[in-house]
Amino acid sequence: MISWERSINIKTPYEIEIMREAGRINAEALAAVVAMVEPGVTTAALNEAFETVHKKYDVYSPFKNYPGPYPYPGSICTSVNEELVHGIPGNRKLVNGDILSVDCGTVYQGFVGDMAVTVPVGEVEEETNRLIDVTRKALEIAISKMVPGNTTGDIGYAVQTFVEEQGLFITRTYTGHGVGRKMHEGPQVPNYGKPGRGLRLREGMTIALEPMVLVGTSSTVVKDDEWTVASADGSLTGHFEHTVAVTADGPKILTEL
Ligand code: MF3
Ligand code: CO
Repeated sequence: MISWERSINIKTPYEIEIMREAGRINAEALAAVVAMVEPGVTTAALNEAFETVHKKYDVYSPFKNYPGPYPYPGSICTSVNEELVHGIPGNRKLVNGDILSVDCGTVYQGFVGDMAVTVPVGEVEEETNRLIDVTRKALEIAISKMVPGNTTGDIGYAVQTFVEEQGLFITRTYTGHGVGRKMHEGPQVPNYGKPGRGLRLREGMTIALEPMVLVGTSSTVVKDDEWTVASADGSLTGHFEHTVAVTADGPKILTEL
């Protein structure tokens, strides 16, 4: 089990500026990874490319050695096809038609940026592109709800309703989360919910929103490596994530270039 520090830490505008830089570096390192994605590349090579950018900035990944069944061995998570989250980089070679989710984090001046994208490898089927588009859109919808006065239930409701209207499934097991000096802080932000329920959003909250969408089921299983989470029925999955601040001027995405 992943252990959480669930306290909610409100950030000052200055702290949010630092998180913005953590997020910017994280996005740059992720872009270097995404640029390498093609048939034949190993997920370990992607992990290395990410670390190369980190070395340039003298920053590190909060994923590496994260406590779990055993310390997480990668700097990023690479989850292929039915793998939803927490896939471990290794000697697996990507093949044409795969989809790959890359989830990554950066610690800069003590603050974390956390982000994920799902990308096609070579040419994928139209239905697969639709899964990616729906998942990305679900994140955009979640971000649009990040305003003071809304609740975590408002976010979850909006994500769940949209995804289910598209005939796809949303995870019940894995959630978004507050993020700051720790990768996992409160509040927990489920990808499902009821309007008005949950915790009220306040200015200065910084949250990693991360819809996880599955084609055939909302159930997941953990693979033999004890980290990788996959769809229970083997169907394809998508995952997008941004770290976002609640501000008086509306949602501020911190993990972009
Ligand atoms: N973005 C993921 C999360 O929010 C990454 C954690 S992977 C881990 O939970 F290996 F670090 F645990
Ligand atoms: Co996260």
